[in-house]
Amino acid sequence: MAEALVYNPYAFTVHDNPYDTYRRLRDEAPAYWNPDLRFWALSRFDDVLEAFRNYETYSSAGGVALEGRRPIDKTNPRFSEIIEMDPPEHTVMRGLVSRVFTVRRVAQMEDEIRRIVNHYIDTVIESGHADLMADVAGCFPMDVISAVLGIPECDRDTLRECADRGLVREDGTMEIPQEGVEAILEVLAYFTEDFGRRRAGEVPGGGLVSDLLELEVDGRALTEQELLGFCLLFVFAGFETTAKMVGSAVELLSRHPDQRAAVVADPSLVPQTVEEVVRFHSSTQYMHRTLTRDVELHGQRMQEGNSVLLLIGAANQDEREYGPTAGEFDIFRNPERHVGFGYGVHFCLGAALARLEGRVALEEIHRRMGDYTVDHDNKVRFHSGNVSGWRTLPISFTPGPRLVSVAG
Ligand code: HEM
Repeated sequence: MAEALVYNPYAFTVHDNPYDTYRRLRDEAPAYWNPDLRFWALSRFDDVLEAFRNYETYSSAGGVALEGRRPIDKTNPRFSEIIEMDPPEHTVMRGLVSRVFTVRRVAQMEDEIRRIVNHYIDTVIESGHADLMADVAGCFPMDVISAVLGIPECDRDTLRECADRGLVREDGTMEIPQEGVEAILEVLAYFTEDFGRRRAGEVPGGGLVSDLLELEVDGRALTEQELLGFCLLFVFAGFETTAKMVGSAVELLSRHPDQRAAVVADPSLVPQTVEEVVRFHSSTQYMHRTLTRDVELHGQRMQEGNSVLLLIGAANQDEREYGPTAGEFDIFRNPERHVGFGYGVHFCLGAALARLEGRVALEEIHRRMGDYTVDHDNKVRFHSGNVSGWRTLPISFTPGPRLVSVAG
């Protein structure tokens, strides 16, 4: 008899290999109910896309992480994060932040991102080995997001360390560990002080934080909660996901040597490589929604107020969308669409930045250390609810010179 189908997004075994469970969910239980953790899970591409699209039924206002879910109470939002707002509030806030976080601002970051990435590669390039996560991929996105926000270099390590602690979960459990709660509070305290220093003119300021402090909505400044919401979201949504994406790319390419050789030979293949990594294994494996009405789906009655997980990781490997090779990593696939950055009104606000960071990092890694081998026996997975990737990824490569312009 087939083993009972259980999907627990916190189980370390699922993190190690979610794909078999995802396939069984799509085939056997496309509207799956977990009675212990009390959530539904949608795993087919069309269902996930429709749920992302239909924000009126699948609301974000009850939280977008399972462990952070709560009854919808629009009179008492927690941090005023846009990611947890529904239209029309969401539309107003998204429009506002889009005014200062523009495509142009992102495009202007390319040289700075390349400088930052090469700085980290320089710290390991002469030795011929590295932990890609600790030394390069896990470092540079925080510098980038800090540069975007206008956070001074001396504070970046502290923030990176807090963001790491804030995401860790224990095996199989839903509660945020005390350590994680403290880390989130530390980030909030940091920004509260930072706002004060900027307002008092004690620091030079600059970046998105200063722009946000000056923004006006309907003739009023953003509230402290709204400002904190933006900063917290940028730090948590913009750092870990990008770091994990670059780590996953290197790990996947190391297991597909022909594709890696193609990327080394032709760097113009990097953008489509980034896209396939985000399709094949998005660092965001699911988003949480709360039903605002009863929904009948695949013979199940999902009730108003129930939690629904939109399984991005499962949808992006659905044979119904991508054909029989859906489960294969293939940088030449060029899929028309995927939900690795979400879809609809909440489509990742940082997608352009994430794509740029991914492109620059993979270009430099494959230019400067492109013959890497990954020590698969000693790689260590990162465990969190919906962020997926590597904590440790030991690699070896032919040593090379530091970049004189960066090393000075
Ligand atoms: C590979 C990297 C990334 C992945 C896989 C990713 C994934 C996602 C996904 C799936 C969503 C949709 C959430 C939902 O529907 O509830 C989202 C939203 C969001 N992301 Fe990203 N993200 C990445 C990088 C970034 C970066 C670099 C930033 C920072 C600038 C960022 C900022 C945001 C924000 C602010 C939202 C909320 C948008 C809204 O609610 O309107 N993300 N991201």
